[in-house]
Amino acid sequence: MERKVKVGIIGCGFIANAHFLGYRSNPCADVVAVADSVASAAEKFAQRYGIPKWYSNMEQLLEEGGVEAVSICTPHPSHAEIAVMAAQRKKHILVEKPMACNLDEAEEMIKAANEANVKLMVAFVNRFVAPFREAKQLIDAGALGNIVMLRSHRWGWIPWSEWYYDPKGGGGLLPDRFCYGVDFARWLTGSEIDEIFVYGDAMVHTEARKKFGRDFIDNAKILMKMKNGVIASAEESYSCRFGYYERVEVLGSDGLIIADPFKHDMLTLFTTKSNTEASFFEGLPYSPGWNWPDMVHFPLKEKVWGSFAAETKHFIDCILNDHEPLVTGKDGKAAIEGVLAAMESYRKGEPVKLPFNI
Ligand SMILES: NC(=O)c1ccc[n+]([C@@H]2O[C@H](COP(=O)([O-])OP(=O)(O)OC[C@H]3O[C@@H](n4cnc5c(N)ncnc54)[C@H](O)[C@@H]3O)[C@@H](O)[C@H]2O)c1
Repeated sequence: MERKVKVGIIGCGFIANAHFLGYRSNPCADVVAVADSVASAAEKFAQRYGIPKWYSNMEQLLEEGGVEAVSICTPHPSHAEIAVMAAQRKKHILVEKPMACNLDEAEEMIKAANEANVKLMVAFVNRFVAPFREAKQLIDAGALGNIVMLRSHRWGWIPWSEWYYDPKGGGGLLPDRFCYGVDFARWLTGSEIDEIFVYGDAMVHTEARKKFGRDFIDNAKILMKMKNGVIASAEESYSCRFGYYERVEVLGSDGLIIADPFKHDMLTLFTTKSNTEASFFEGLPYSPGWNWPDMVHFPLKEKVWGSFAAETKHFIDCILNDHEPLVTGKDGKAAIEGVLAAMESYRKGEPVKLPFNI
């Protein structure tokens, strides 16, 4: 019989549902306990999914819940304390993004997990979204030649809970969304960031700007110069009330990838392999690049929601097979560093060099 990893979920808000459904689809995982500092939230969540134990105190879950792994699905400022506590009790950890609010917290989490010899994985679900995963494989296989530019964007509406966008409480557009922008840039270019520059402003949520001050922004465009020379950018928005839309484009010397989980053709590769030498301006002479591109579509049927099943499955596989997770504490820490540098650039209105710490 397959061994089942007993899992506890800490924090029973929005994303906890995605973690639970991911684990439930996995024959090797069993969510046996949940905790939330609001007792009624834990109780309701446990009742909704038929989870046997619920707690209003996460220490109690760690001590009595009978779990060997936890998903941390609480607000950012609580991640570090919970993760360290879990590691000290020898629990494997899947922690939501961003892994912490600053580099010291991230380092403490990495140290605690190393000392306890438990897995520490950061929930950058982008790594498990089918078209992004496919894009990475094509890039690694050399389909694009040398990468020259990359851009990603996450356009959505302001989140449901205020802690998300209160900059004093560790929230804000950049920690919440741009942590993904950093991860895409590092992951797909295979390079660290050299320098960051940000334009940002509060353009729609003016009440929140009044309440939280200049550090509150709802739109930002971030430029990153990577150490290997690639020019990358990210766009983050809390102003898109029409639905969440995320997309990544990577341009190389031999091809272009558009990875778009929100369209049916979720990944498109432009190549030069079979270019027709005919201009797209009828009657004009052909000149390289002024032709209809040769496009290969990869219609990936996997739903975006499926990425949470893939993410939690990977975490469980790492525990069962003693593998290093695809997204490590080092990746989580690098994302925080990028976010902090971006916040500094926004405040000062000038480019900021990495490594960066405040
Ligand atoms: N991967 C994704 O696509 C994605 C999407 C949404 C949120 N997230 C991340 O998930 C995390 C949680 O976000 P959410 O939207 O579920 O938040 P939420 O506000 O919906 O829920 C948070 C829950 O945690 C509880 N809580 C707060 N402090 C706690 C503590 N110290 N101990 C135990 N419980 C506590 C709250 O009572 C609440 O029920 C954040 O890190 C967020 O960035 C990721």
